[in-house]
Amino acid sequence: MQRLNLNPFPVLETERLLLRQLINDDAQEIFIHRSDKRILEFIDIPVAKSMADALAFIGKINNFIAANESAYWGIQLKGRQEIIGSICLWNVDYVEEKAETGYVLHPDFQGKGYMQESITAVIKFGFQKLNLNKMVAEVRHDNLPSIKLLRRNGFVFDSVSEDCEIYSLQNPLQETVAG
Ligand SMILES: CC(C)(COP(=O)(O)OP(=O)(O)OC[C@H]1O[C@@H](n2cnc3c(N)ncnc32)[C@H](O)[C@@H]1OP(=O)(O)O)[C@@H](O)C(=O)NCCC(=O)NCCS
Repeated sequence: MQRLNLNPFPVLETERLLLRQLINDDAQEIFIHRSDKRILEFIDIPVAKSMADALAFIGKINNFIAANESAYWGIQLKGRQEIIGSICLWNVDYVEEKAETGYVLHPDFQGKGYMQESITAVIKFGFQKLNLNKMVAEVRHDNLPSIKLLRRNGFVFDSVSEDCEIYSLQNPLQETVAG
């Protein structure tokens, strides 16, 4: 697999969306995405309590990007500046050639296929550009919208991890090469 190279940052474009690097002007949305109870119901993350927390998070993410450690895209509707959600590739494992994805969408923008569009682009990036062997996602067993998204994209149940389930997707390009 390739080393993650995020400098310059790989902006991903889909039919309706731009997946781009976070900027400090995203702090208001990041604050909501990391504090709205509807979004946090199934995910265990440090809850943002202030705009300062949101700005600190953006700073931390951009340091990871500068160090080529993990990729984190803000999801923007084409023609609008504010982000409606985010998606990442992190926990990059160069030995097993795998990385984990995680994602959130603001509830106002759920049910419209925006994460479907986003994850399609991130899977393509992970398999075609990074040449990952496998992509994984950790999801609570009762997070049905997330499980539905993963299954729709070919992820299958892999294993149990504490109170979560791991779903995984094998790189189809590598399966073909392996015969
Ligand atoms: C997980 C999450 C991103 C899924 O959001 P979502 O909007 O349901 O995801 P999708 O983009 O796959 O959209 C699918 C829905 O849009 C509908 N849809 C509408 N237009 C569509 C289009 N053009 N293409 C695809 N689906 C479309 C689908 O029918 C489906 O609706 P349904 O669930 O009622 O059948 C969202 O629930 C979320 O952010 N949850 C909180 C954070 C979280 O739990 N993250 C995951 C941690 S593992």
